[in-house]
Amino acid sequence: MSIPLLKNRLRRLRHSPALRKMTQETELNAGDFIYPLFVRHGEGLRLEVKSMPDVFQFSIDQLAEEAKEIFSLGIPSVMLFGIPAEKDALGSENFSPNGIVHQAIREIKSAVPELIVMVDLCMCEYTGHGHCGVINAKDSPQYNANVPDGYVLNDPTLEILQRAAVSYAQAGADVIAPSGMIDGMVGAIRSALDGAGFEHLPILSYSVKYASSFYGPFRDAAESPPAFGDRRTHQMNPANVHEALREVELDVAEGADMLMVKPALPYLDVLHRVHTAHPELPLVAYNVSGEYAMIKAASINGWLDEKSVVLEALTGIKRAGADLIITYHAKDAARWLKG
Ligand code: PBG
Repeated sequence: MSIPLLKNRLRRLRHSPALRKMTQETELNAGDFIYPLFVRHGEGLRLEVKSMPDVFQFSIDQLAEEAKEIFSLGIPSVMLFGIPAEKDALGSENFSPNGIVHQAIREIKSAVPELIVMVDLCMCEYTGHGHCGVINAKDSPQYNANVPDGYVLNDPTLEILQRAAVSYAQAGADVIAPSGMIDGMVGAIRSALDGAGFEHLPILSYSVKYASSFYGPFRDAAESPPAFGDRRTHQMNPANVHEALREVELDVAEGADMLMVKPALPYLDVLHRVHTAHPELPLVAYNVSGEYAMIKAASINGWLDEKSVVLEALTGIKRAGADLIITYHAKDAARWLKG
């Protein structure tokens, strides 16, 4: 058998570690990560989330140490989620100056001023019904007889998001990140922030957020499962991508400073499309709780090698177009990248 002349042998650049490294197209850095933090009332608490091994809910007194560790690993930012003392119909702790997240912002900013504190802005963690907005109910002043009971009322929700955004800005947040997929949320929050003198504060919009079953473990972590129904009247259908681009156009027009696609791994095509449509805007991918739990569970069972799988997954998310990645793996990945 005669072997034809092979001019193109792609293995030429793969045969030594140094050549592979030199020709690598995508490089993951600790500086790409945003680490989610769950904060709760109480003292001396570091409670592990059952469905998310190595992820904890922290009481305020534990945050300074945690923030220092995160920052020392080279991770530039955290995303805060709060578990309130009490939940009510409008989620009052979301806009009370002494709410759990307001306390956490002050604590972290005083311990590590350079760490960028982002706040996930939504109603679901704060409301008794666990939904992301004001619910249509006969006994409420906003009742609208034309839509079903239990429907998330869009515009009344915007007013609450405006109040909460301003209260987080006043507590010292660096970035406001609305996550509820409420129509007009970016524009409403932008005008409220500007009206209160916070025209310098950026908005990271959860622009493209799917109604995903991969959020399951997060609802343990944030203690925020919906009491009835689901989030399909506001979060996107996983089957759609053109609609995702429309969501993005609206957010850009309303003044979003950064865009997000969430979840990450089952939606890399969406990430790529958004990156291509708006390469000028920083794009964040949220590698969500269910994606984390899958890798953790398989690793604990010895079915996958955690380190290499995590670094491969995060590299893939970046290769698809993400500039930044919100991930529960951030601390481990930062250590592995260092070592
Ligand atoms: C809403 C919010 C959710 C997540 C982030 N922000 C839950 C939801 O939309 O149901 C999920 C994140 C994850 O699964 O890691 N506040």
